[in-house]
Amino acid sequence: MKNIYKNSSKNLNKAKNILRKNNIIAVPTETVYGLAGNAYSNSSIKKIYRLKKRPKKNPLIIHYYDINSVKKDALIDKNFIKLYKKFSPGPLTYILKKKKKSKISPLANSSLKTIAVRFPQNNIIRRLLRYLKFPLAIPSANKSSALSPVSSHDVFDEFSNKLKFILDGGTSKIGLESTVINLYGKIQIIRPGSISRKQISKILKIKIPILKKSNKIISPGQLRKHYSPGIPIKLNSRKKDDKAAFIVFGKKYRKRKNLFNLSKSGNLQEAGRKLYQTMRKIKNLGYRKINIVKIPNKKIGIAINDRLKKAAQ
Ligand code: TXA
Ligand code: MG
Repeated sequence: MKNIYKNSSKNLNKAKNILRKNNIIAVPTETVYGLAGNAYSNSSIKKIYRLKKRPKKNPLIIHYYDINSVKKDALIDKNFIKLYKKFSPGPLTYILKKKKKSKISPLANSSLKTIAVRFPQNNIIRRLLRYLKFPLAIPSANKSSALSPVSSHDVFDEFSNKLKFILDGGTSKIGLESTVINLYGKIQIIRPGSISRKQISKILKIKIPILKKSNKIISPGQLRKHYSPGIPIKLNSRKKDDKAAFIVFGKKYRKRKNLFNLSKSGNLQEAGRKLYQTMRKIKNLGYRKINIVKIPNKKIGIAINDRLKKAAQ
């Protein structure tokens, strides 16, 4: 496939040049693949929203190389610094107050007072961020409300040749989007991810709630149907239904037709890594329905269940 480019110095230079011209590309990260564009450029941001068919009121996450590069765009405080030291670069996104002087395109944060910032860990995206003079707005590289991609082929599956440049970085190590924590106003988790509420509480030494009801102002993106493979999903299912794909977890299931095991050893991290991949495979095999067993609601299982609930809506 000619729009997928292997990770090489030559291709990284190509990627940087495309971004400098305010065009957009797909990039790997440790969570999921993203669509990247210059966060200071209105025209880049417009291209992202157009390609994803994303509602304008759903803001993007701005990706930075390190804490020094974020200071011109966002106000940082003690809580941020504590978490940054422990978890960044990595799969944690912080909602911070945007600075008045920031050059972030207002289209990128839906003209909110805040911006979401993340410092990805993946080495390829870090090599881009390090040498660009602007941060990158990077939403997941899927059409709005669809399954997030975890490989360059998944990105191709979403956009085929409508996207000129997909940078390949293998399969995403985590496979679920970053944890999002609000640090401006009420401290709370607005999207669970692989970094758990417990881990964060331990660092900040306070109890942290997970946003329960969808709250328009705090997280517009959490509102509607999301992460959907485009076919009905039945949660907490025990029965095998001949027509449905059956997603299971753990060792008690024997291999058989229509059965997809997220982790034979009952490892939640493995299940997180395989969730989107498995649902995409099932969709592409032509199944009309998915049944999935109950997934333990602890650690990264909380994030898995969050995505499943939204996918089943
Ligand atoms: O792991 C990730 O975070 C991936 C990779 C590519 O980095 N990106 C990602 O972006 O998941 P996206 O656009 O699919 O999800 C961004 C989420 C949305 O739920 C959005 O509403 C929320 O972050 N968000 C962004 N800016 C916000 C803000 N200023 N206030 C509240 N929520 C915000
Ligand atoms: Mg997304």
